[in-house]
Amino acid sequence: MSVTDSTKATDSTVDPSGRRARLAVVTGASSGIGRAFARRLGADGYDLVVVGRRRDRLEALVAALPQVEVRPVVADFGTDAGVATVAAICANEELALLVNNAGVAHYMPFADLPADKASELLHVKVVAPTMLARAAVPGMVARHEGTIINVSGMLAFSGPAPLDQLPLRRAVYTATLAHLVALSQALHEELKGQGVRVQALCPGVVATEFHERQGFDLSAVPRMSAEDVVTASLRGLALGETVCAPGLERRDLLDAVFSADLAAFAAQAPRLAGRYQAEQEVSPDTGP
Ligand SMILES: NC(=O)c1ccc[n+]([C@@H]2O[C@H](COP(=O)([O-])OP(=O)(O)OC[C@H]3O[C@@H](n4cnc5c(N)ncnc54)[C@H](OP(=O)(O)O)[C@@H]3O)[C@@H](O)[C@H]2O)c1
Repeated sequence: MSVTDSTKATDSTVDPSGRRARLAVVTGASSGIGRAFARRLGADGYDLVVVGRRRDRLEALVAALPQVEVRPVVADFGTDAGVATVAAICANEELALLVNNAGVAHYMPFADLPADKASELLHVKVVAPTMLARAAVPGMVARHEGTIINVSGMLAFSGPAPLDQLPLRRAVYTATLAHLVALSQALHEELKGQGVRVQALCPGVVATEFHERQGFDLSAVPRMSAEDVVTASLRGLALGETVCAPGLERRDLLDAVFSADLAAFAAQAPRLAGRYQAEQEVSPDTGP
């Protein structure tokens, strides 16, 4: 059954056996990876709340999934009100799955990034996923069941890349993706004994509207399909991966990154490291 009225009660999701269907909230479902998640999850038997700003796209998704209970919710995550609208759904409904997917990038030199675009980027990629997870988690913990997928990206690991190797001006976007990786890892550890799984999903370049909407034509660049990204995410959950990298054949490279993170974290001491001790800098004879 399809639903175009966003106020329709979820009681209709109870099947004749009395079992309530699982509910998934997918943000950024009006195109790309979010739409692919919605279609896959609908086919897998989830009821859906699909979120975006383009109502016509959400209604087209409802029409494309006639066998699925789909509730479109128009919300702009650039605003606190938009985030609060969806957070209320996450807090008040029996959510099995939250897919924090909505995103923009606003690639441009940091000095040129208008304040309103920087703020929008932080709201959509940091405030919204964090606040939606915060709203959803208490209920998931109480039910001892739930999954949160945070769509990040491989650029999360690109911070140290020299500009001549990666000329993309991307500081704020990269930082938001790194936030999602760290949030997912820490939250997964915090909640894993309470029945809640958290995944950071890190695609590379994907064939969606993402770049084109920002004025970049990447149609000549080899790109993964949104459907393959979704397949990797769901398979990654089954494999128990907290960070899922759909295009990375060598999983050990990511594991090495995280091992190095932990080694550096564990090796710190409350004592000024030798290289910062001024007298040792001027006296090469005294080693650290
Ligand atoms: N495409 C890639 O190469 C790539 C690579 C790595 C990671 N990602 C990540 O993948 C996610 C999905 O992107 P995509 O590639 O599928 O691009 P897309 O087709 O442009 O989809 C982006 C989605 O985010 C929604 N959105 C954007 N701004 C919003 C706002 N202010 N409020 C609410 N929703 C908003 C859009 O819906 P409305 O415009 O209708 O609001 C749209 O549904 C993003 O978070 C992105 O960071 C993409």
